[in-house]
Amino acid sequence: MNLLICGGAGFIGSNFVRLMVNKYPDYKIVNYDKLTYAGNLDNLKDIEGKSNYTFVKGDIIDIDKLNEVIKEHDITHIINFAAETHVDRSIHGGCKDFVLTNVLGVQMLLDAAKTNNIEKMVNVSTDEVFGDLDLDDERKFDEKWPIMPNMPYAAAKAGGDLMCNAYFVTQKVPVIVTHCSNNYGPYQFPEKVIPFFVFKLLAGEKVPVYGDGLNVRDWIHVLDHGKALDLLLHKGNPGEVYNIGSDNERNNMELTQMILKVLGKDEEMIEYVTDRPGHDRKYAIDATKIKALGWVPDYPREKFEEGLRETVEWYKNNTEWVENVRAKKKDEMNKFQENIDKSDKPQESAKK
Ligand SMILES: NC(=O)c1ccc[n+]([C@@H]2O[C@H](COP(=O)([O-])OP(=O)(O)OC[C@H]3O[C@@H](n4cnc5c(N)ncnc54)[C@H](O)[C@@H]3O)[C@@H](O)[C@H]2O)c1
Repeated sequence: MNLLICGGAGFIGSNFVRLMVNKYPDYKIVNYDKLTYAGNLDNLKDIEGKSNYTFVKGDIIDIDKLNEVIKEHDITHIINFAAETHVDRSIHGGCKDFVLTNVLGVQMLLDAAKTNNIEKMVNVSTDEVFGDLDLDDERKFDEKWPIMPNMPYAAAKAGGDLMCNAYFVTQKVPVIVTHCSNNYGPYQFPEKVIPFFVFKLLAGEKVPVYGDGLNVRDWIHVLDHGKALDLLLHKGNPGEVYNIGSDNERNNMELTQMILKVLGKDEEMIEYVTDRPGHDRKYAIDATKIKALGWVPDYPREKFEEGLRETVEWYKNNTEWVENVRAKKKDEMNKFQENIDKSDKPQESAKK
């Protein structure tokens, strides 16, 4: 397999690049990434010299470059992680880039897949396209659940997903769409909730919890997400949608308390802040379909505390990585904070 991984310098993409480069020495892996504020080649320092790995800086909207790279490397498969992903940025910073990358960018990839007779493409998407559930609703999102996104980020992701379906039906592009729940693990951009909380607590600062803290997210380890995507690249059926999640619904208070416990801090370190506008209440994924294909998570619900502990320890032991990200992306992070300050909400922000 000659695999083009788009957005492989971000959080989930870089964990996936590492998995594939190490697991399949005979595959050619090309990481194609625009290196936005969220893209960071430091995430891949340990594998950058491997003979089966190449990095190309590029934008998925740039169809000419995509075609060139696909031809040059004789690409047979594509997986797309490239996206604007930060929910709060999509609310407070304008969402033009979200629509450009998450909708138009996916369309360009589909065009490139068609032109170059790609054998299979996987478009990595999110459970947020389904909107949310009430807290007392015991149902879970299955693959047939209506698409009803509330956040601009999620609406743009849904646009890209729907384009995949349309290209499968009308152009016969062999594309799969996935909807995964919230990921945790190493190499996540420090604006996102888990690293954000860890570094605040390590600095002796309080952590901001939105609203009543009861919003529920279904947490999955990033390596389990990667395992599922590896399986789909090899065994998934084109034209189909697969939901990915570990049956691990936790409310934000529970998550915060677990992080406090790992770091030996108490609840005095929590500060309640005004809720995010339209904050989705609950997500829950029904992963029956991908489990039937043979996917088994290494970090199921009962191992969440272990996975979270390892993750917190990773951030504690990799402060240099975080300091480098912060130094390199200082302007972008400051601009984001200014947008938050300008908006109605007098609060700090962390995703989900
Ligand atoms: N983080 C989660 O919890 C989560 C959950 C489910 C699904 N997803 C989906 O997984 C994918 C990856 O998420 P993540 O958290 O790793 O995101 P991330 O923000 O950490 O990384 C995104 C990567 O895409 C690159 N990129 C952005 N625009 C690009 C463009 N136009 N062309 C090429 N590269 C571009 C960035 O440079 C960055 O490396 C996204 O599609 C997201 O919607 C994320």
